[in-house]
Amino acid sequence: MSATKPGATRSVAARKDFDIVLFVNGTEHRVHIDARTTLLDALRDRLHLTGTKKGCGLGQCGACTVLIDGRRINSCLTLAVMHEGEAITTIEGLAEGDELHALQAAFIEHDGFQCGYCTPGQIVSGVGLINEGRIHSEAEIREYMSGNICRCGAYTNITAAIREVAERTLARAAGV
Ligand code: FES
Ligand code: FES
Repeated sequence: MSATKPGATRSVAARKDFDIVLFVNGTEHRVHIDARTTLLDALRDRLHLTGTKKGCGLGQCGACTVLIDGRRINSCLTLAVMHEGEAITTIEGLAEGDELHALQAAFIEHDGFQCGYCTPGQIVSGVGLINEGRIHSEAEIREYMSGNICRCGAYTNITAAIREVAERTLARAAGV
């Protein structure tokens, strides 16, 4: 009679690996990956892009936010294999060489972080929000950033940083 536990049998049966190409921050990465690997774990553990943080792992804190084709997503809630060929942007992909992204610079200027653990997710989410072009007030920034939790409570300065860059972006688009 087999000594294999029913749970162990299911686990082996469920495993399936794939060879996929992830396009991250403008670079192609070929990875051999268990189909159940989250995008967050693929970025951190396989590609060593540890700027994206793992907070709750449950879609509740926003620390793991990345952009997929410019749109914000919680990378802990999605599988890497679902994003083959899509343009993935992490916090490491926002700066251009030594030049920080405008929102990164604004976070420094406005002192938008304390421990900094939530900061990559806040900045990536803020960039996505500014791209969405629907900020008209501080209340809207707070509402649209509500998926990004900061345990240190740096919200006021985070909001100020996003507002400043959003206003500059809108003014530039309007040719002001
Ligand atoms: S780690 Fe993804 S939302 Fe918290
Ligand atoms: S700065 Fe510490 S969690 Fe936001």
